Amino acid sequence: MCGIVGYIGHRDPLEIVISGLHRLEYRGYDSAGVAYLPDGAQQIEVIRAVGKIKDLERAVQQKAPVPGIHHVGIGHTRWATHGAPTELNAHPHRSNNGKFAIVHNGIIENYSEIKRRLTEKGYVFSSETDSEVVAHLLEELYEGDFRAAVVRMLEHLQGAYGLCIMCSDHPDMLIAARKGSPIVVGVGSGETIIASDVSAIVNYTNRVIYLKDGDIVTATTSEVDITECNSMPVSRETSEIEWDVEQIEKGGFDHFMLKEIHEQPEAIANAIRGRMILEDGMSVLSGMQMDAFDMARVDRMIIAACGTSYYAGMTGQYFFEEFAGLPTGVEQAAEFRYRNPVIQRDSCMLAISQSGETADTLAAVREAKRKGTRVLGICNVVGSTIARETGAGVYLHAGPEISVASTKAFTCQVAVLALLALGFARTRRMSMEEGRHIVEGLQQLPDLVRRVLETAETIREVAERYASYENFFFIGRGYMYPAALEGALKLKEVSYIHAEGYHAAELKHGPIALLGEQVPVVALAPDTPGKGKTQGNMQECLARKSPVIALATEGDEEIRTHCTDVLFIPKCPEFIATVPVVVVEQLLAYYIARARGCPIDQPRNLAKSVTVE
Ligand code: M6R
Repeated sequence: MCGIVGYIGHRDPLEIVISGLHRLEYRGYDSAGVAYLPDGAQQIEVIRAVGKIKDLERAVQQKAPVPGIHHVGIGHTRWATHGAPTELNAHPHRSNNGKFAIVHNGIIENYSEIKRRLTEKGYVFSSETDSEVVAHLLEELYEGDFRAAVVRMLEHLQGAYGLCIMCSDHPDMLIAARKGSPIVVGVGSGETIIASDVSAIVNYTNRVIYLKDGDIVTATTSEVDITECNSMPVSRETSEIEWDVEQIEKGGFDHFMLKEIHEQPEAIANAIRGRMILEDGMSVLSGMQMDAFDMARVDRMIIAACGTSYYAGMTGQYFFEEFAGLPTGVEQAAEFRYRNPVIQRDSCMLAISQSGETADTLAAVREAKRKGTRVLGICNVVGSTIARETGAGVYLHAGPEISVASTKAFTCQVAVLALLALGFARTRRMSMEEGRHIVEGLQQLPDLVRRVLETAETIREVAERYASYENFFFIGRGYMYPAALEGALKLKEVSYIHAEGYHAAELKHGPIALLGEQVPVVALAPDTPGKGKTQGNMQECLARKSPVIALATEGDEEIRTHCTDVLFIPKCPEFIATVPVVVVEQLLAYYIARARGCPIDQPRNLAKSVTVE
């Protein structure tokens, strides 16, 4: 995810900003940049580079800013969302007159509209980003008062932002604002550091102020003034940081896996933000480059992916068939590439990959393209090979996933697949009313996940009691079948326990021979149409003395008669139950692995991105 650093004070601003950017490297990024104001200059200078911070440092040395620059500067690490990772798309972005430089985290949802209007007025854009509109809007609205221009500019923005802004007319001032994207202010002596994350601040001061949504901070070397967006002054508490840097990079969590599990409410909100219209019961996914006519002509969907992305794809199959009545096949990418699959003329392939670099998925994409099929990518990493070669599709906007075990990518993939299926469904049999029901369901997702995360302690207690078992089964039916497969994969990856996912009805066709006291079964039985049948399967497991851990819907007390332990998810529509259920499974796997002392973020033999066959 992108990172922001801004500095105003008595030291060399570039040194502090670059050192802060180094501290933000762990978040993942693909390009970086800084802005500073040479002494006596009317225009801000910007230096940017694709790649690592050391590439930026090299570029800074080459440009060698002369000593005597104002003691204010801003910097950014960019993790591409709108536009490929290039120097021009890297932040900071500058206004045409060179008076303003801005760095931005988040997504400006209405940027196309603003860009169109500003372009008509003669403003020249040099990047493909949504963020650049902020710099030009400031130039348009500026009448000599820096703060007033920022306040007016923010009124134009829809979406999420963490912003840090400098202005050459006011070299003794740095302004930042937040809505939906974190901004922290480090209060030093004779200096202020503004950042998206305390890890960029902690080297200089341990006194920080966490801004709230809607806050605007104006910092000078000696003062920090905070107002709400209506310009009313507010006071925010100053906290003392007590963590060390490594803990801070993990946001205070012990592992990236746990941090990423907890990031899911925000990640899912980013994945669906601005992509649905409630009143029309519709989704809007412009990156697909397909209009209603193109979508209506698709007569078969082929989903290709590997691992966790494959299980998300299986969930997608239920969406496409249930919502749109569109025949859908899910292919293990490795198999698809060699099987000489039969592809009809109006088929469409969805290639799902968090990294966008998985060799087998990429090969499936190339094979499908060779056969003349339209291919869409669902990727998290912008500018990745699959994203580039498909040329059309949907980004997850989940932020970088560092832990080898995929968590937030899965839940965002499921959310995006539901949006895609909704789009296809509305060109077919789905009514506006039914579409609205889907949109309303998807809007609940961040909150549902938040409520599951609140039960983490209970999940940990159950996990610790089961941590010494060496074999597990996960069972489910309907939407819960792919969720069972994903639960088993997560557990084996991080805890090294042998775990198998099965359709609940399949146990009795063989695997039931393995059941017994030493083999717990995780049964996915939330309130969905197949629940009664799954309860029957749970009884079969209990009869063979297997302990049964049920995942059920809050309020279902009767479930206790069918299991040994129970973990609850909040009440929700069937089609989105996968997400809260999988979050429970992620936490279960995490806490079991932790109790066993496993190296959770880097399990043995596994790589984050599998670029070999
Ligand atoms: O980057 P991709 O989504 O293409 O990766 C596919 C699999 O390698 C990946 O999901 C893998 O199964 C994860 N380690 C699961 O946690």
